[in-house]
Amino acid sequence: AFPGGVAASSSIAANGSAVSTQKLTVLYGTHTGNCEALARTLATDAKSQGIEVEVFDMASFKTRDLKKITNLAVLVSTHGIGEPPMQAEELYHFLHSKKAPDLSHIQYSVLALGDSSYVDFCQTGKEFDAILEKLGAQRISPRIDCDVDYEDDAVAWQQALLKVMAQHSNITPAADIKVTGETVASQSVYSRKNPFEATILEKINLNGKGSSKETIHLEMSLEGSGLQYEPGDALGVYGTNSPSLIEGVLKATHLSDMQLVQGHNGEKTLSQALTYDYELSPLSSVTLSKYAQLTGSTRLQNILSDNEKLLSYLHGRDLLDLLKEFPYKLSASDLLSVLRKNNPRMYSIASSQAAVEEEVHLLVSVVRYQAYGRHKEGLCSATLADRFKVDDKVKVFVDKNTRFKLPDDPDAPIIMIGPGTGVAPFRAFMQHREASGHQGNSWLFFGDRNFTTDFLYQTEWQQYLKAGILTKADVAFSRDQQQKQYVQHKMMDNGKDLYDWLENGAHFYICGDAKQMAKDVDRTLKTIIQQQGGITLEKAEEYVKYLQLSNRYQTDIY
Ligand code: 2AM
Repeated sequence: AFPGGVAASSSIAANGSAVSTQKLTVLYGTHTGNCEALARTLATDAKSQGIEVEVFDMASFKTRDLKKITNLAVLVSTHGIGEPPMQAEELYHFLHSKKAPDLSHIQYSVLALGDSSYVDFCQTGKEFDAILEKLGAQRISPRIDCDVDYEDDAVAWQQALLKVMAQHSNITPAADIKVTGETVASQSVYSRKNPFEATILEKINLNGKGSSKETIHLEMSLEGSGLQYEPGDALGVYGTNSPSLIEGVLKATHLSDMQLVQGHNGEKTLSQALTYDYELSPLSSVTLSKYAQLTGSTRLQNILSDNEKLLSYLHGRDLLDLLKEFPYKLSASDLLSVLRKNNPRMYSIASSQAAVEEEVHLLVSVVRYQAYGRHKEGLCSATLADRFKVDDKVKVFVDKNTRFKLPDDPDAPIIMIGPGTGVAPFRAFMQHREASGHQGNSWLFFGDRNFTTDFLYQTEWQQYLKAGILTKADVAFSRDQQQKQYVQHKMMDNGKDLYDWLENGAHFYICGDAKQMAKDVDRTLKTIIQQQGGITLEKAEEYVKYLQLSNRYQTDIY
């Protein structure tokens, strides 16, 4: 028997065969909707296996219902630097508080989503796993920590979980478990695993001469792909590594570029594998830890033993810095074994198909900096800026974001906070509302460094204002005066109006920087509600919580 046993109640069905009704509670805490999509797939497949299933967003789950749970699947992503997503915060804190109940009646398994380029990879999932165990719950099947290419791991986790449950219900033989893989399927045959080769139609640097920034507007053709997206969705883009970085790596390792290696889809030259299949920059904690193991370096072990040391070592470094600082005789397969796969970068789409049909537009901030004596650049943004020209083909796929959507009601007012490239999805929102004849009021807050060089899509906003598609626009150019002016300062200046809009049912959106901007904007929003509503900060927080629960506060932050 399975240790701990899976809770199940058996009865005899009318036809005399033994059936058992098991119940599975699925709790998801999601930021972009990936966990939600996986939770829904799990629910569908569990139901087809005869299991009774209930699915809850952690944000709306009542903690007193924990006592009713028998089997529990937790799907949770990690946000920012090892933090739970907003939707998971309350449950997370409750389980870690003194009020947390005994959970020894629960059998559970955790699926953690994360990104292994961060040090605190899947931290929130790990913590949920640990706290459930601490509160007495028993693990049905092992936790899985999924990286950005999570599909296969998620399917494997789901299969393992349903298999254990099936073994204890005698309904469906484990071999018959059907996994629909619904999350990966879309109307198109093209996906993360099988990206479409989109042709670049147009590429423009939107920043004026002398700007401290480089932000490119790209138009690509999706013709013939069947790919469909909605405003708020993202486009996954596969970049290539820079030729000079590859050259440096080959030189440092004394490996031949022409030698044949096993790449991701068959044999190819080392140079090709390094160009397309692996991530050479930035340096990830996974690569550092594998390299430390391979080389047996005690100095690297020491760096790995302390989170702060690790973070500061990784900052600004790439693979070549590591190879130079810790030289070691590597074979080509050693080298590839320490590297992370080349993962696509997600960009919030800046267009609506209602307006541009088979095109997709992106707004990409090009990352370039100097560190450790060399020029560094963002793998994907530099690919788009430097290595691909008009008429070249880029590998892309659509990444749905169910958590960042225009209101269902076309007349609902919207408030959009989008400094820098954060403005991208709001261009999609405006295109969509114009093309669909939607009447709702809309208010944009945009910010960037300098008015003369950095006012992204300036003329388009002016046209939308003129046409009445955009009702109001407020802009903050941070470096045009002594004192920094940010979008949240403009929000404060317009506190009364902003509050009135919310009271009139406005949906509030933030897109852009997660580390500082989104937090500051969130704080400002609460202050405005507190002041204008004449209520306490706690009440203002409840107000915002209510907005979140009713999908009227959505963020797309990175
Ligand atoms: P800065 O670079 O002058 O500090 C888009 O990047 C814009 O967002 C820039 O004008 C940038 O200003 C600004 N920005 C930087 N930090 C911010 C924050 N915490 N809140 C809002 N805007 C911020």
